[in-house]
Amino acid sequence: MRIVFIGPPGAGKGTQAVRLSEHLGVPHLSTGELLREACRLKTAIGVQASEYMESGRLVPDDVVNQLVFQRVAEPDCGDGYVMDGFPRTVPQAEVFDDFLSLKGTPLNVAIEFRVREQDLRDRLASRGRHDDVVEVVQFRLSEYDAVTTPLLNYYQGRGILRTINGIGTLEEVSERIHSVIHAITGRRV
Ligand code: AP5
Ligand code: MG
Repeated sequence: MRIVFIGPPGAGKGTQAVRLSEHLGVPHLSTGELLREACRLKTAIGVQASEYMESGRLVPDDVVNQLVFQRVAEPDCGDGYVMDGFPRTVPQAEVFDDFLSLKGTPLNVAIEFRVREQDLRDRLASRGRHDDVVEVVQFRLSEYDAVTTPLLNYYQGRGILRTINGIGTLEEVSERIHSVIHAITGRRV
């Protein structure tokens, strides 16, 4: 299955993507993780991306697209993947759809996580990642509202958007995701 997770910072995308990818036996692809790794290694992409990430701005589409297309072409993605944090703009989604349809491997589902803003702030405040300081979180949340939420309409229009409540225990949220997959595929996971 090819699954993308959409949700604001702190919604639990990464946490649930790790759980689901282990459960399904497919890779977890996180653009945030790929970019943070590129920054650590000081690759050309990492050097370009770091100033955006530090301030909570989105890294330019062509930089991220390049990273994702390379990763998705690797053999371990042949049976699908759980993608977390990409696409996050409508142009990213359009280019990704074109790329996938050329390969004959369209997305099966886009799952939106809904979590109240105060919960997001509380979760990130207690996590303490480099970009979790209050001002940067504010910027990341506003980027989500302005640039990423239009994606919801985009996937709605394609008939593959499903929305889940992201509040609850890790098990409760995982169970909601499994129900979505069951409803789509008819298979219990
Ligand atoms: P990225 O790493 O993707 O960050 P993000 O989307 O802002 O979201 P987070 O990773 O902070 O949250 P999450 O939803 O994964 O939640 P998590 O599971 O960690 O992106 C970082 C930066 O990279 C961006 O700002 C941008 O600069 C760049 N970037 C990445 N992708 C890009 C793209 N496509 N285009 C352009 N730029 C891009 O959980 C958060 C916390 O909550 C954790 O502490 C967790 O333990 C806790 N938690 C999880 N679930 C629950 C629960 N059910 N109840 C209570 N606590 C919970
Ligand atoms: Mg994450």
